[in-house]
Amino acid sequence: MLFDFKEIPGKECYKLLVSTVTPRPIAWVVSQDANGVLNAAPFSFFNVFSGDPAVVAIGIGNRKPGQAKDSRANIRETGEFVVNLVSEANAEAMNITGIEFDSTVDELEQAGLTSLPSARVKPPRIAESPVAMECELMQIVDLGESGLVLGRVVAMHVRDDLVLDAANHYIDTPQKSRARRPLSLGAAGISAARRKSNKKVALSGRPGQYATWRLLENGRSN
Ligand SMILES: Cc1cc2nc3c(=O)[nH]c(=O)nc-3n(C[C@H](O)[C@H](O)[C@H](O)COP(=O)(O)O)c2cc1C
Repeated sequence: MLFDFKEIPGKECYKLLVSTVTPRPIAWVVSQDANGVLNAAPFSFFNVFSGDPAVVAIGIGNRKPGQAKDSRANIRETGEFVVNLVSEANAEAMNITGIEFDSTVDELEQAGLTSLPSARVKPPRIAESPVAMECELMQIVDLGESGLVLGRVVAMHVRDDLVLDAANHYIDTPQKSRARRPLSLGAAGISAARRKSNKKVALSGRPGQYATWRLLENGRSN
């Protein structure tokens, strides 16, 4: 069947892309605004694009027309961010950071996550993540209602038990064991994780809305 992207609305093109180009790894991005307010959010339009220089790219949309999501606004403002990778154990916390909180809210705190200082950039990394990449902004390519953030990786943290041979930079690429596999969107893992956490956070295929989450949280504590 032919789907002519010149004829169908953007929302439908999005559905076709995200349901066919899978699995996609998730960048769990920590950034800060100029006042130091912390922000964390997941992005599955993500990958690495060059080894030397070490370059990552993340597609970050707008919150509403003309207004960049906080992560993109922060990265543009400060030029620094950390990409954390997500394991299955982090799925529920990751989903909470996907809620569109107000820009003054620290999502790490909301999700009960711990931050650790970075070595080369100001935003911290997530202690619960198996891998974290400290990045400096190279460029943001304007895509209209979205922006492609290109970052140079200046330092990487890998959890000790995943390092096979530090001198030769051999990492135990965690594909074999389900427990260690990094979370990607489209893999069976995320569906299961989503179903589980949907009890708490209403996602229904799109990021949860703050109001819905608040409502569910209040319901739980009553
Ligand atoms: C698994 C997952 C993947 C996501 N991928 C993207 C993405 O690639 N691009 C994007 O703009 N939003 C994506 N989102 C939605 C953002 O995480 C969400 O809008 C978030 O609230 C943005 O936070 P911020 O405004 O603090 O940057 C994703 C959400 C989830 C749960």
